[in-house]
Amino acid sequence: MPIIDIIAGARPNFMKIAPIIRAIKQSQSSGGKLGHRLVHTGQHYDERMSSSFFKQLGIPDPDINLEVGSGTQAEQTAKIMMRYEALLLENPSKLCLVVGDVTSTMACAIAAQKLCIPVAHVEAGIRSGDWSMPEEINRMVTDSITNYFFTTSQYANNNLKASGVSDDRIFFVGNTMIDTLLHEMDRLSAPDCFESLGLENGNYIVLTLHRPANVDAEQDLSVTLEAIMQHAGSLPVVFPVHPRTAKQLEHIHTAWDHLHCVEPLPYLQFNYLVKHAKAVITDSGGITEETTVMGIPCMTLRDSTERPETVDVGTNELIGTNPERIPPAMERLLSGQWKKGAIPEKWDGKAAERIVEVLERCV
Ligand code: UD1
Repeated sequence: MPIIDIIAGARPNFMKIAPIIRAIKQSQSSGGKLGHRLVHTGQHYDERMSSSFFKQLGIPDPDINLEVGSGTQAEQTAKIMMRYEALLLENPSKLCLVVGDVTSTMACAIAAQKLCIPVAHVEAGIRSGDWSMPEEINRMVTDSITNYFFTTSQYANNNLKASGVSDDRIFFVGNTMIDTLLHEMDRLSAPDCFESLGLENGNYIVLTLHRPANVDAEQDLSVTLEAIMQHAGSLPVVFPVHPRTAKQLEHIHTAWDHLHCVEPLPYLQFNYLVKHAKAVITDSGGITEETTVMGIPCMTLRDSTERPETVDVGTNELIGTNPERIPPAMERLLSGQWKKGAIPEKWDGKAAERIVEVLERCV
């Protein structure tokens, strides 16, 4: 049985690997020949950033944990490469499957390809064009050494073709993050804060911020929060705070009584909160895909997106990082004038099955 490595490193990876592992097992039960080894790099390690996702999404315990922990971009990259290379030298696999755009994605792709182990990239080809984001560098480097490109949109296909990737290596399969959302939709359940804060369906805003550009400078974070809160009226704003943001928030005086900072939420509770919200304000990429599928208005506080289909087709709008653009957008949001949106092509819950079909043929 050919064994492939599935790499998981940071929070947004976990919902992308869950359906792939499920599809591999399903294929095995009907005679499929593909096996897998689950490698967690340890980039994210907290219960709330990692293990809770494994438990809720039914992901088996990793076969290997490289336990790299926190560090600068280069430190994390180097540690992951060294430890993954050592694993491959001792016990090679047939293929390295990486997902998304986090540091673990790029680091494992490099280590594998240098040992002539082919690389498959799920969510390949997306580009923001913004080189100041570490994720954009991770995407570009990973795609420059990928053998099998699994894509979520025609935009991604076109980006890859424009960079010289031949058609026969691009597989437009859909979106594994949406596979997970659709699979878990009936299991979403209210977080404790829903009741304790007295939230009502359609009558609160969910806020998430963790990009270095928005949160690393105290002043910027404070001005952004001020702009949101001044225009949220009396609507409660629920803010599950990422560890990076928490460090800055400690220094900011938050005097708004309807801003509710809570710990990062587990998957099923976070998406329940989103599904019942009036709107979401975020600087995440993945969340804009989930709001698109759930039809929830989404305001993105970034100047670019690598997921333009969430804007062209979905409910997302790019507001940018200039806080002056927040008030008019809030006004449209609260007066019910936000666009409705539709579901992008092939975001139908079957992406992982399509990926495994291809891998069964190619590995
Ligand atoms: C990473 C990804 C980003 C993704 C985000 C989701 C990269 C380059 N970025 O950014 O694409 O959207 O994850 O969360 O890979 N920390 C903890 N506990 C943890 C993990 C991290 O406290 O379990 C702390 C770290 O010490 C660090 C901060 O959170 O100070 C940021 O973590 P890091 O993994 O460097 O990047 P993220 O900002 O989370």
